[in-house]
Amino acid sequence: ADLAALSTFRLPARAAEVIFLDNLDQLAGLSYGHPLLVLGGGSNTIFLANWTGTVLVNRLRGISVERASQRDSRVRVAAGENWHRLVRWCLDHGLHGLENLALIPGSVGAAPIQNIGAYGVEIADVLESVTAWDWRQNRLRQLPAEACGFGYRASRFRDADRGRFLITSITLRLRHEFRPQIGYQSLAAELKRRHGDRIPGPRALTAAVMRLRRHRLPDPARLANAGSFFKNPVVSGDFASSLLSDHPHLPHWTMADGQVKLAAGWMIEQRGWKGKSVGAAAVYPNHALVLINRGGASAQQLGALVDAIRADIQRSFGVRLEPEPILIGRA
Ligand code: FAD
Ligand code: EPU
Repeated sequence: ADLAALSTFRLPARAAEVIFLDNLDQLAGLSYGHPLLVLGGGSNTIFLANWTGTVLVNRLRGISVERASQRDSRVRVAAGENWHRLVRWCLDHGLHGLENLALIPGSVGAAPIQNIGAYGVEIADVLESVTAWDWRQNRLRQLPAEACGFGYRASRFRDADRGRFLITSITLRLRHEFRPQIGYQSLAAELKRRHGDRIPGPRALTAAVMRLRRHRLPDPARLANAGSFFKNPVVSGDFASSLLSDHPHLPHWTMADGQVKLAAGWMIEQRGWKGKSVGAAAVYPNHALVLINRGGASAQQLGALVDAIRADIQRSFGVRLEPEPILIGRA
């Protein structure tokens, strides 16, 4: 089976078998080949090689809501729902907390995998629990958010327990009252331009996030990509101080534990990579953290571009960049 259409970066690759999961009842007796890979929208998975086993495409659907308290409701969402559709659904139902996460591609079930985040909000901020099929124990389990090991672009699902769980649904706690998170610099600037000093309502905030994203990020339906290709590196406070004295304009965020997150896109842009390419694999001209497939790129071309960028950033800033998407076929 062809995998190019199941991944938004669209490198050529094949799987021995693709199974579509439409119903929870399919799971208990499912017969599948090893190794097994679960896929949602394929917007954070890049196939550098064929998949020798089964790819299971999650299409579980359904949203339900119950009042949890005076101030919030519990929203339970099947993992195969589209993330942005959920964001709009919550907006229409007066449930708040997801506005900053509008327009992130992909499925609900993949959202906890890397703890999706944008414009100062992460799903961990509103997630109560994850329901997942444990392939090791062959049963459904409910994992409270505290047991998911969430960090910046990190979770137990992505890291220590990669491949162990199939997330079947998530449960969010969303507020009835709107309390906007508008501290992220580019978002604050966009809101100021449009609304001056007025506090935006939920629709205005969502619209501002969508404008920023449409302006800066390529639409995977038109231009193959997987969003940010590298994580923003997190370094010690001491290392950051010395780096920032050489590069005072390097955008950075101090984290709760005192470590500092550096804007990888800025470093890559400074080194002149915007628009550069190896074959059809290229750095997106509007945003240096995003790599694109202009059409017909190969795994070798992407690999060569990635290696060259990483070596250059290591040499120029002493910082190691780690890929953000899941790369299949590379250790
Ligand atoms: P997939 O690529 O299908 O899967 C990703 C990983 O999760 C794989 O390892 C897969 O095995 C695993 N997985 C998927 N579903 C399940 C499941 N049900 N159970 C267990 N494992 C599963 N991310 C952000 O955090 N913030 C952003 O702002 C952002 N912007 C983006 C912009 C663009 C244009 C693009 C293309 C991507 C962006 N991303 C962003 C990355 C991506 O949208 C998210 O990682 C998203 O959660 C991926 O969803 P998906 O269903 O497409 O995942
Ligand atoms: N910057 C540059 N040049 C560039 C790109 C960025 O100078 O080419 C600067 C910007 O001017 C800004 C800073 O770097 O000062 C940060 O840029 P931006 O706000 O675009 O965010 P980012 O750090 O590049 C991260 C996430 C995105 C998320 C945005 C918004 C990671 C790896 N990426 O990008 O997530 O949408 O913040 O919160 O953390 C993704 O994960 O796929 C993704 C798109």
